[in-house]
Amino acid sequence: MSDAVPVLTIDGPSGSGKGTVARLVAERLGWHLLDSGALYRLVAYAARERSIAWDDEPANAAIAAHLDVRFSADSLGNEQIWLEGREVSVHIRSEAIGAGASQVAAIPPVRAALLARQRAFAEPPGLVADGRDMGTVIFPGAALKIYLTASAEERAQRRYKQLKDKGLGANLAALSQEIAERDRRDASRPIAPLRPADDAQVIDSTSMSIDAVVARVLELAAQRFPAKQRL
Ligand code: DC
Repeated sequence: MSDAVPVLTIDGPSGSGKGTVARLVAERLGWHLLDSGALYRLVAYAARERSIAWDDEPANAAIAAHLDVRFSADSLGNEQIWLEGREVSVHIRSEAIGAGASQVAAIPPVRAALLARQRAFAEPPGLVADGRDMGTVIFPGAALKIYLTASAEERAQRRYKQLKDKGLGANLAALSQEIAERDRRDASRPIAPLRPADDAQVIDSTSMSIDAVVARVLELAAQRFPAKQRL
């Protein structure tokens, strides 16, 4: 990673909209995108395929250390995520894998194994990095850090709609519970807990549209990176 590469981090809890916002902001800026949650989801998915429990620390750490993953996009620009040559984008988005990701993400050697891989995404002309610890641990020197949040009810509603739109099964009450459990686990773990960086700009998107959040982030980016923007 070069310090000269501008980095914009977007952290926040599950369902805050950060994935969508990060993708749209990266597109508008013409920058690379790091979806760090996908890496933890891939570890959880690979573990489940191999019948490895999500609390088996050495086995999950070994998976993370040898993760054979590739990110690409189809002709329509839809994300494609490849694990060992197989396209798994839809499979890793289920709530079950999200819960597994949150468990394997609490294992310190899993996080350590993914550190360099995440930093390597910082390539010119710039990077938008989405996750839980982008601004606090992975890119502490990022010039612009956003912490995107929303009320737990609103996040459960959004997740419900997102899963339905993808044709995946969803139950709103169960989702609310899972989100609360995931928030608790992600925020209370000793290593790289979910929290805003001290220098993060907090945006509460509870009553904001995605477009309004994107516009706000782009406005902040224009102030921080005046010469770097494509648009
Ligand atoms: O953003 P997501 O829902 O795809 O993330 C799935 C899980 O991965 C999340 O519950 C916690 C973990 N995660 C993490 O610990 N650190 C990150 N930078 C990104 C995700």
